[in-house]
Amino acid sequence: MELKIIEESVKDDIERVNALIIETLSSKVEFLNSINSYLLSNKGKQLRPVLSLVAARACGEVSKKTICCAAVSEMIHTATLLHDDVADDSSVRRGAPTVQTMFSPAASVLSGDYWLSKALSLLTRENDPNILAFFTKAVEELSEGELFQMQKASSLDTTESDYLNIITRKTSSLFVASVASAVYSSGTSEKIIEAMAGYAYNLGIAFQIRDDIFDYMPELNTGKESGADICEKKITLPLILALRGAPESEKLEMIKDIKESDYNDKSMAARTIEFVKRFSGTDLAQNTLTEYCDFAVNSLEIIKESQYKRDLAQIANYVGTRVL
Ligand code: IPE
Ligand code: IPE
Ligand code: MG
Ligand code: MG
Ligand code: MG
Repeated sequence: MELKIIEESVKDDIERVNALIIETLSSKVEFLNSINSYLLSNKGKQLRPVLSLVAARACGEVSKKTICCAAVSEMIHTATLLHDDVADDSSVRRGAPTVQTMFSPAASVLSGDYWLSKALSLLTRENDPNILAFFTKAVEELSEGELFQMQKASSLDTTESDYLNIITRKTSSLFVASVASAVYSSGTSEKIIEAMAGYAYNLGIAFQIRDDIFDYMPELNTGKESGADICEKKITLPLILALRGAPESEKLEMIKDIKESDYNDKSMAARTIEFVKRFSGTDLAQNTLTEYCDFAVNSLEIIKESQYKRDLAQIANYVGTRVL
C-alpha cells in the first residue's frame, strides 16, 4: 500500500497546508532561513496532515481552520524530530544528514523551538481554545513520553506496559491531536470526534511499533540508521517480546550485555539483532501492531460510508505494512 495514492485525494488541501507552513516560518534571520530551507527541501511522508485532512473530509467539511490544524500537526512533528535527533544523537534522517550534523545540536534544538512556537502562534490566530487544547496536551505528553523513555533507558527495566505508556505519549498523542482537532473543525458531533481519536490512538501505537521494528531490520532502506535504539539502550517491543521467549540465562546475559555496552560499540547492535531474530521478536511485534491496526479500523464503524472513510482504512493498512 502506497501513502502517495491516498495523498492524491487531498492534494489541493496539502498544497494549501505546505503554503501556510512556508508563510508561517518566514524569518528575518538568515541562518534560521537556511535551516528551514534545508528542512523544507527534504520533506517526510506528511502522514499527520494527510490524516487530519482525510479524517476531516470523512466526517464533515474542510475549512481554513482544518488547514491550520493540518499545518500545525506537521510543524509540531518536525519540531519534535529536531529535538529527538539531538536526544538520540542521530546523524541521518530522511536519507540525509540531520540538522544537528549539518549545522549543530544547538541549532537543531533552537530551530525546533522556533517551529514549535510558530505552530502554536498559528493556532492562537484561530482564536479557538478547544483547538489549542488538543495540541498543547499533545506537546505536554510528548515531552513526558520522551523523558520517561530516558528514565527507562537508564534503569533498563522497560516492561511491555512501560513501553505502551512511552509510545502512547511520544507518538500517539500527536496522532490524536492531528485527527481530533481536524475532525472537530469539520463541524461534527462529540461522539464522532471520540471515535476518530480512538482511530488515531491505535494508529499511532501501530506506527511507532513498526518504526521500532525498522531498528531491527538493517536490510530495509528507511533513510534512518538501524540499531540506534539498542545503542541508546532503548528497549522496544521486538526486544521485550524476544526476552520473554528466551531461556532465563540468555535473557540475563543479554540485559547485562546491553547494560555494560558502550554507545559506540556497533557490534552490540548486531548481537541484539541476532538475539531478537532468534526469538522471533520482530514477528511477534508485527502481530501486536496488526492488532492495533485492526482496532483502528474498527473505530471507524460509526463514520458514514465514503471514499474518505475507505482511505482511512487504507492508511491503517499502509501503517501495518510500510517499509519507509
Ligand atoms: C518519525 O515519524 C518519528 C516517529 C514517530 C517514529 P515519521 O516516520 O512520520 O517521519 P517523517 O516525517 O516521515 O520523516
Ligand atoms: C519517535 O521515536 C520520536 C518522536 C515521537 C519525537 P524515534 O526516536 O524512534 O523516532 P525516529 O526513529 O528517530 O524517527
Ligand atoms: Mg530518534
Ligand atoms: Mg527518539
Ligand atoms: Mg525510531
